[in-house]
Amino acid sequence: MKKILITGGAGFIGSHVVRRFVRQYPGYRIVNLDKLTYAGNLLNLRDVENAPNYRFVRGDINDFAFLKDLFLRERFDGVIHLAAESHVDRSIDNPDAFVRTNVLGTVNLLNAARMLWNGNYEGKRFYHISTDEVYGALGNEGLFTEQTPYDPHSPYSASKAASDHFVRAYGDTYGLPVVISNCSNNYGPYQFPEKLIPLTIRNIIRRQPIPVYGRGENVRDWLYVEDHAQAIDLIFHRGQAGETYNIGGNNEQRNIDVVEKLCEITDELLGRQPAGTSKELIRFVRDRAGHDWRYAIDTSKIKQTLGWAPRTSWDEGLRKTVRWYLENTDWLEAVTSGAYRDYYDKMYKNRLQS
Ligand code: NAD
Ligand code: TYD
Repeated sequence: MKKILITGGAGFIGSHVVRRFVRQYPGYRIVNLDKLTYAGNLLNLRDVENAPNYRFVRGDINDFAFLKDLFLRERFDGVIHLAAESHVDRSIDNPDAFVRTNVLGTVNLLNAARMLWNGNYEGKRFYHISTDEVYGALGNEGLFTEQTPYDPHSPYSASKAASDHFVRAYGDTYGLPVVISNCSNNYGPYQFPEKLIPLTIRNIIRRQPIPVYGRGENVRDWLYVEDHAQAIDLIFHRGQAGETYNIGGNNEQRNIDVVEKLCEITDELLGRQPAGTSKELIRFVRDRAGHDWRYAIDTSKIKQTLGWAPRTSWDEGLRKTVRWYLENTDWLEAVTSGAYRDYYDKMYKNRLQS
């Protein structure tokens, strides 16, 4: 029986990973450790919360005494580490939390795993989930490969880059069996509406202005979140220790095209006539500081070595996502009550007025 710690399992991607592992591996014991920050929500896991192979533990990866106790009690065989501060705009506003959780919290987890395993690494794995943003920004040409030099620009990507370096250093220095994947932008159900796609859907539903940074020409490579969870499953079980895998959607889109497509799909599903009228809500606003121009992933390594490729088409994934948000307005209300309004005003009030 395998005991696996998943950190950040109450967040967006983490909840899909927890759900997948709990359902796919009834013989494993899955422990979800999450601090439940604004981004973490147990509503994301209602359908698996009573499964016999699942347990939730509330805790902070910055608290080493707590981690040590948990590791000694549970004696994990594997760690899948997703807990992080994850939003670029928040990192511009308050970088410190990103250093604490993403860098120091990751080092705490590495130390806890090293302490528990104590050089006996047979059947053990420390899997760190990272982002393509560590590679910096591309111009109009080219793709990020696993060999692309790190060149982070935002406090978020700098903190993720630092955490990746620590994970590799623990592999090289102490022989810890580490593996890392760097993934492009995810979208799908349960994503907190501070990120482009759910924020746009929410504003369309509420007929509020849709803020598009700059001219909307920046490009992101979008991957449906369940395809990411599947890649994580594969890498956890079959990836080589010491290796890095890039994961992407082979799906480059300009932000303005994403927003316009969301207007068309959401209007159609809401029965608003003619579909696409919500485009009149689009507002081009002051650009993000240091806004990375383009991200795009070369997925050949994971395809050739592990046989992984994204399964969900852009059209299918976006329709599933919009439908989910329309059917789960209670969830949307629950996660955006309270502090969300203050966040929204702080980030967008001046931008939308100017
Ligand atoms: P998220 O913000 O939705 O979730 C993060 C989770 O971590 C939350 O549940 C939060 O409560 C928890 N958390 C935060 N600080 C914690 C702490 N100190 N201790 C314990 N738990 C804590 O993030 P996400 O979008 O699901 O991203 C998950 C991981 O995947 C992150 O490491 C992120 O860098 C990486 N990633 C995200 C994307 C994307 O498009 N969202 C793409 C590539 C990689
Ligand atoms: P986001 O979802 O924050 O992901 P990331 O910055 O990690 O790529 O943003 C995706 C793109 O959308 C990015 O180029 C910034 C842009 N964007 C907007 O134009 N308006 C918004 O309100 C937000 C949140 C993002």
